Amino acid sequence: MKLVAVLMLVSITMALPSFSSFQTWLASFQQPLMNLIDNPLRRSTIPQFILDARHPWIIANQRKLERLPNAEVFLCSIPDTKSDEAKEKETTLFGEQLEIPPDLFDKLEIDNNRAGVSRPGWPNAFERLSEMKRCQRALNQVKTLEVNIYVHSGKYSDWYLASLEPLQPPEQLLTLFGDVLESMTSLATLRWGIGKEDTHFFEEAFKSRNLTLPSVKHLAPGPFSEYLVGMCPNLERLESGGGFMWYHGHMPDNRDWRLLFIQSAVSAPKLKRFAMVGANAGWTPPLVSEVVKSMPQIESIGLFGSLGERSHYTGYDTGDSGKLKAILDVVNELTNLTHLDLPGSSDLGVGFNGGPGCGNVYFGKEGRKYRRQVTREGAEATEKGGEIVVANMSHLKSFTIGGTCANITRYEGRMANVTWPWTGRMEEWLLEVVPEIPDHEYIKYGRM
Ligand SMILES: *[C@@H]1O[C@H](CO)[C@@H](O)[C@H](O)[C@H]1NC(C)=O
Ligand SMILES: *[C@@H]1O[C@H](CO)[C@@H](O)[C@H](O)[C@H]1NC(C)=O
Ligand SMILES: *[C@@H]1O[C@H](CO)[C@@H](O)[C@H](O)[C@H]1NC(C)=O
Ligand SMILES: *[C@@H]1O[C@H](CO)[C@@H](O)[C@H](O)[C@H]1NC(C)=O
Ligand SMILES: *[C@@H]1O[C@H](CO)[C@@H](O)[C@H](O)[C@H]1NC(C)=O
Repeated sequence: MKLVAVLMLVSITMALPSFSSFQTWLASFQQPLMNLIDNPLRRSTIPQFILDARHPWIIANQRKLERLPNAEVFLCSIPDTKSDEAKEKETTLFGEQLEIPPDLFDKLEIDNNRAGVSRPGWPNAFERLSEMKRCQRALNQVKTLEVNIYVHSGKYSDWYLASLEPLQPPEQLLTLFGDVLESMTSLATLRWGIGKEDTHFFEEAFKSRNLTLPSVKHLAPGPFSEYLVGMCPNLERLESGGGFMWYHGHMPDNRDWRLLFIQSAVSAPKLKRFAMVGANAGWTPPLVSEVVKSMPQIESIGLFGSLGERSHYTGYDTGDSGKLKAILDVVNELTNLTHLDLPGSSDLGVGFNGGPGCGNVYFGKEGRKYRRQVTREGAEATEKGGEIVVANMSHLKSFTIGGTCANITRYEGRMANVTWPWTGRMEEWLLEVVPEIPDHEYIKYGRM
């Protein structure tokens, strides 16, 4: 308790006067205090970005690696550049062999706010990128980079972390980000979760250096980050990233980030797959029309979120609203489409509007019985949605509703009949998905 109080006092006195320049800001972040909070016992000699990636081999060998004379050099140097003797010396430690697995750097992240991690957003990004820049092997090998930067600035933020955030991403960070992305020569998938208010700083910096990422085939940017699309000339898959960012807030000038995202696909001629959450307003025929206009060549589409605004729970079947058919009529203009993903049956506007969202109605034996009833209604609504798809888009090769893949039977090359995991065995299936369990083991029910 006392230690925490002292640390906080030190951080206030350090933080308040120092944000005028990047150097003092960085210095205040990099001082050992932060390390102490991040890792109370000691700083690992393994670069933090490698620990953050949570590769099972690192988790299993962390202690051994930390006993190496220089874990960073061992992990980061490119295999061919090491002499055999050096390799031998490094990998044989106390008689044990340490062989770096080839997929060690496949997936890296820059994330300051996932479970178990709580750091200031911009400083964490700067530190992780600096480590990556020093790690040639990671730059060469990384295939997937996931960026999620949560800036602690709002009133609900941890005030200590908020005190370490500069008001906007510093120039040095923007440059470093461009440098590192450019050096990731095998990068195929980029997930880009940067807040709506801040992402334009990256747009300006990346555009002014003509950033291009020719290896990237799969891009998942958050709202207002569609500027990345034109920077990836070989893009094949584009999807909305950044999670709930799509649902939150609005811009003063009322720009629709969904529309801008869709329209950006004009600059991705190799695009095969497009997926987006419809966000609060949901998918409408005019929005799907924009997809047809911007990327007529696509072969696969994911319409996630809801068709129109999400319907409110009523407790009874509200009947088919016609939304699904209206949307499919427009989707049908995509002449090369072979695959379609639709949201769950409570978001299709076919009459089922989900079970009660919260409360204790699903607790206990009676609660589970009720949950099975709601699950059955959801499954029946999925069947109804599936029938509409089959009737209107019989040329599709495959489709899903709420993540469940329809099992399609063809007749003369066209979809003739569709079955689901519960078809012909509803009671058995309901007991599988909502099993009889002791009352205290309450399992969360997801919307169907
Ligand atoms: C970026 O591209 C534009 C147009 O091709 C060119 O005028 C400009 O000099 C380039 N900038 C850099 C930093 O390469
Ligand atoms: C559909 O695919 C064919 C064959 O790849 C291609 O020639 C055609 O341009 C595509 N259609 C559209 C609308 O892009
Ligand atoms: C589309 O589906 C609806 C509902 O099942 C059906 O009434 C209609 O005939 C279908 N339209 C076409 C063109 O198949
Ligand atoms: C799909 O349906 C066929 C015919 O009804 C069945 O034989 C097959 O097991 C089903 N496949 C799956 C994955 O459910
Ligand atoms: C579709 O398949 C189900 C399950 O096999 C069957 O009960 C039903 O009669 C089939 N419907 C049609 C139109 O073939």
